[in-house]
Amino acid sequence: MAVEPFDTVDLIRTKRDGGALSTAQLDWLIDAYTRGYVADEQMAAMTMAIFLNGMGREEIRDLTLAMVASGERLDFSGLSKKTTDKHSTGGVGDKITLPLAPLVASFGVAVPQLSGRGLGHTGGTLDKLESIPGWRAQLSNDEFMAQLERVGAVVAAAGAGLAPADGKLYALRDITGTVESIPLIASSIMSKKIAEGTAALVLDVKFGSGAFLHDPAKARELAETMVRLGTDAGVATRALLTNMNVPLGLAIGNANEVRESVEVLAGGGPPDVVELTLALAREMLDLAGIPDADVEGALGSGRAMDSWRAMISAQGGDPDAVLPAPRETHTVLAERAGVLVAQQALPFGIAAWRLGAGRARRQDPVQHAAGIDLHVKPGDAIVQGQPLFTLRTDEPERFARALEALEGAYRIGDPGEPVLDGGPLIAGRVG
Ligand code: URA
Repeated sequence: MAVEPFDTVDLIRTKRDGGALSTAQLDWLIDAYTRGYVADEQMAAMTMAIFLNGMGREEIRDLTLAMVASGERLDFSGLSKKTTDKHSTGGVGDKITLPLAPLVASFGVAVPQLSGRGLGHTGGTLDKLESIPGWRAQLSNDEFMAQLERVGAVVAAAGAGLAPADGKLYALRDITGTVESIPLIASSIMSKKIAEGTAALVLDVKFGSGAFLHDPAKARELAETMVRLGTDAGVATRALLTNMNVPLGLAIGNANEVRESVEVLAGGGPPDVVELTLALAREMLDLAGIPDADVEGALGSGRAMDSWRAMISAQGGDPDAVLPAPRETHTVLAERAGVLVAQQALPFGIAAWRLGAGRARRQDPVQHAAGIDLHVKPGDAIVQGQPLFTLRTDEPERFARALEALEGAYRIGDPGEPVLDGGPLIAGRVG
């Protein structure tokens, strides 16, 4: 049996007592955890020590690169197109990848988007796209490359071969209360993106009640950490800091988010979804060497829509298919007239999840038609009796718990009262 160069418990004690781990120690720890030598309970103690005591800049870099080295690395050097990708830290109603990937690809750039499924109150991009009849998320590496070359945009399931250490570690963090740590989030996200092999990356780092990190200053610190990690690894990386206090757009769920994305691709859609899509597209195209792209024009002319149709068809989906409709709906009406002054993202995300749009356990299925359609946004004038939002589900017994989550989550105030939306949608830029 090979002799292990370190004792796990010594490394745990070092982090517990506020010390730093060396490159060799972190390389070994991640490799030994991936191959099952370091036990889950030891790694749980380690992640809690990191959560409580943080990590230095070199440690975060070493941890990230050790996770990259735990699996395969894709190589796009054979493509005739430049690659540029986007990652969002996750939010309620965040369907931006759907209009964004085809929009950017319509400029001749490749968008290699490897995504995950939703867990908890933020939805997964693959779950949303799977509401399109026939569409499949699983592609072989050859299919992925061929679609990038031909269509440009691909949204597919990240294979188990990409940063497998992160897959194992993220599942452990999820059940040990250690997700909300800047070194752990930054290394988790960036290890997957570096392994994915994109040349450029734009991060949408969210703050507010519906985001992982509520505090804008913490979100900025996360953005700076990830931009540094990407840049040091040779990936041209930038970040936008965006407000997730209020749901994005009017649709929260799966099929209804696809419907809203198609509206944006057709030149319409809610102004906040359009604004963020355009801002991220400009950043991605700038990093790909197209600084003054007419992104509004590509939405207005149908060029981005053509790219969407090609992207969906290439993965077996029917872009003209009727999207699944819920078996049951329940619309909540305004009890009084006034102005909508509050609409909190987190409770709406939880309610959509309880209606069946998200999953409680990794293995659970999602309901494609479940979710919430909002009919008003903060700042809108309200007349008594008008619809505020509609709950959608296949199982009406889910309404009660969803409505419970929404108690106190929205408020109709008097004209002139301040609107509690947390300020502008795009609050800053890093990189
Ligand atoms: N998304 C990830 O991929 N990892 C995290 O740690 C948090 C969000």
